[in-house]
Amino acid sequence: MRVLSGIQPTGRFHWGNYFGAIRQMVDMQGEPENAFYFIADLHALTTVREPERLRANIRDAALDLLGLGLDPRRASLFIQSEIPEVTQLTWLLLTVTPMGLLERCHAFKEKKARGLTADAGLFNYPILMAADIILYDSDQVPVGEDQLQHIEVARDVAGSFNHLYGDVFVLPKGKILEKGGKVPGTDGEKMSKSYGNTIECFTELKAQRKKIMRIQTDSRPMEEPKDPETDPLYQLYILFASEEQKAEMAALYRRGGFGYGQIKKELADAAEAYFAPARERRAYFESHPDLVDDILREGAQRARAKAAEVLLRAQAACGVRSLPK
Ligand code: TYM
Repeated sequence: MRVLSGIQPTGRFHWGNYFGAIRQMVDMQGEPENAFYFIADLHALTTVREPERLRANIRDAALDLLGLGLDPRRASLFIQSEIPEVTQLTWLLLTVTPMGLLERCHAFKEKKARGLTADAGLFNYPILMAADIILYDSDQVPVGEDQLQHIEVARDVAGSFNHLYGDVFVLPKGKILEKGGKVPGTDGEKMSKSYGNTIECFTELKAQRKKIMRIQTDSRPMEEPKDPETDPLYQLYILFASEEQKAEMAALYRRGGFGYGQIKKELADAAEAYFAPARERRAYFESHPDLVDDILREGAQRARAKAAEVLLRAQAACGVRSLPK
């Protein structure tokens, strides 16, 4: 079984990225040949147009991922653009993709609905993502809920290609966690860089505490019992809590008579303790840049070997690159 996932280097990773995807990626590591994780810099080009910033983001992404527990002895970490086969496969897949399938994809639909002009890169973004997945014969794709639609697209186009040309591609499956599939931000909406409601995994501690203290809560009187399930502060708290702490907190909400300030303080303490070992690991990798380069290079080598094999299989199946090898 091969696990694969990607994450865009569009800014520092936040709790949504971590609890939705990165934690699963870490838990699913095993052999470096079977766990492929990459920094999706080609996807990020649809939003980051400053080369210096993109380069710095890619570096930060690698450090964040290694800090958060990606282990180069148990997974391959690489940069998407180091694998040119991915854009070649994208073209093969585009030739079997109906326009309507892409028109229904939410990133493009939302941008259009907001009256913004979308470029062809954004429109075709799900097919580059499909190629990312299909190129390595991936079975499982751990992600947050918002990416499930894209994995369905990958499954659909892989299926169409197979239908036309035989059994060429493995059909991938998305994997989301019940707790963490959709992490709310400080305003209660989905945590997202584009909504400005994020709490990053490695923010400086004082700034992190400040963000947590600003999480929006309702203004009902303290005494009133409250439903924990609809409260974003509770949803964030349980990401860090044990089952026992979770049950206690839920009971407190239902009883009423508490202040949100106290819960925010507990959340800040829990988050600080939770990410402390990751901060240390990140600092280690930050002070060993050559080691990080080696990890990314070796990861790309392993990924490329697999990519070349699958691309050739696809090319042979559809009749291109037909000169004898
Ligand atoms: P990206 O970079 O937007 O997000 C990376 C991962 O974080 C998850 N995530 C969340 N999960 C729960 N709650 C949230 N609030 C939250 N916000 C983000 C995302 O679901 C994702 O798993 N298109 C992808 C990158 C990509 C990819 C791939 C992923 C490119 N190729 C191939 C998997 C397989 C993206 O934009 O994720």
